Amino acid sequence: MRVLITGAGGQLGSELVETTPSTVELVALDHNALDISDSEDVHRSIAAHRPDAIINAAAYTAVDRAEEEWEAAWSINGDAVGHLAREAAGFGARLVHVSTDFVFDGTATEPYCPQARANPRSEYGASKLEGELRALESPSSAVVRASRVFSRHGDNFVTTMLRLMGERDELTVVDDQTGSPTWARTLAGVLWRFAARPELTGIWHWSDAGSCTWHEWALAIQEQATERGLLERAIPIKPVPTSGFPTPVARPAYSVLDSAATCAALDVEQVPWEDALGSMLDQMPTPASL
Ligand SMILES: NC(=O)c1ccc[n+]([C@@H]2O[C@H](COP(=O)([O-])OP(=O)(O)OC[C@H]3O[C@@H](n4cnc5c(N)ncnc54)[C@H](OP(=O)(O)O)[C@@H]3O)[C@@H](O)[C@H]2O)c1
Repeated sequence: MRVLITGAGGQLGSELVETTPSTVELVALDHNALDISDSEDVHRSIAAHRPDAIINAAAYTAVDRAEEEWEAAWSINGDAVGHLAREAAGFGARLVHVSTDFVFDGTATEPYCPQARANPRSEYGASKLEGELRALESPSSAVVRASRVFSRHGDNFVTTMLRLMGERDELTVVDDQTGSPTWARTLAGVLWRFAARPELTGIWHWSDAGSCTWHEWALAIQEQATERGLLERAIPIKPVPTSGFPTPVARPAYSVLDSAATCAALDVEQVPWEDALGSMLDQMPTPASL
């Protein structure tokens, strides 16, 4: 099976490249190699490589900046997904597209199932919802929503916390927003399985098992990183309400995803988020090894 990955230089793209199954002939295109918002570029790439499946790991992911740069967000997260879906269908390829818990408004009190009503509260969330709709215009597409994606690559909550915990004497972290972390490596594994199962179409959810607030997650990062020698000392991490940490875009108060249907369809088990965090931290170089 030949699989084309877009956004191959990003956090998720890097994990997809590193976990490519031996049965897959990989075409990994980073932003320089393929700009998905350029419809002719998309046509040329798919015509040249003729993949059986495309995993779209490319996206505009600057959540707060998207309020100002909404045209770029909608172009990359919405229109471009339409180009990919149309060209994929034209060449008989299946599109596996990645989306986000930010399509929900966060007012739920129990995990969101894939059929739950989307109601984004931000330009980023709205542009990603548009992308889902554009992907699903092609009936062979699968959309996989994830939440709070982290890995050793790039800037994400875990790598940012590790840096700040090394630099500061104290941190304050929001304790009234609950979600499920998703290790990009386990998400990549699930996407590879979807790529190979063209009969699994429509919307799916995936995250690690369990849920936490950002504050609980920060405490776990500090504890596990200290145990592994990634941090020299523990600092006070104080809980604050969302109102004490204003951001241009309000994050969902509750955005736990229900991944049960994905587990059943792919015959996979979720790993508790604390264990996934430990596995990711095991991949980080300790200061002594640098
Ligand atoms: N990160 C999270 O917490 C999170 C949570 C839920 C869902 N997701 C979803 O997961 C997916 C992967 O996100 P990620 O965390 O891996 O983000 P990321 O690290 O920001 O990677 C996105 C990649 O897309 C590339 N890109 C941007 N515009 C492009 C374009 N026009 N054409 C081709 N490539 C382009 C970026 O390249 P440049 O850097 O050169 O622009 C970057 O390499 C996205 O769909 C995102 O919405 C992420």
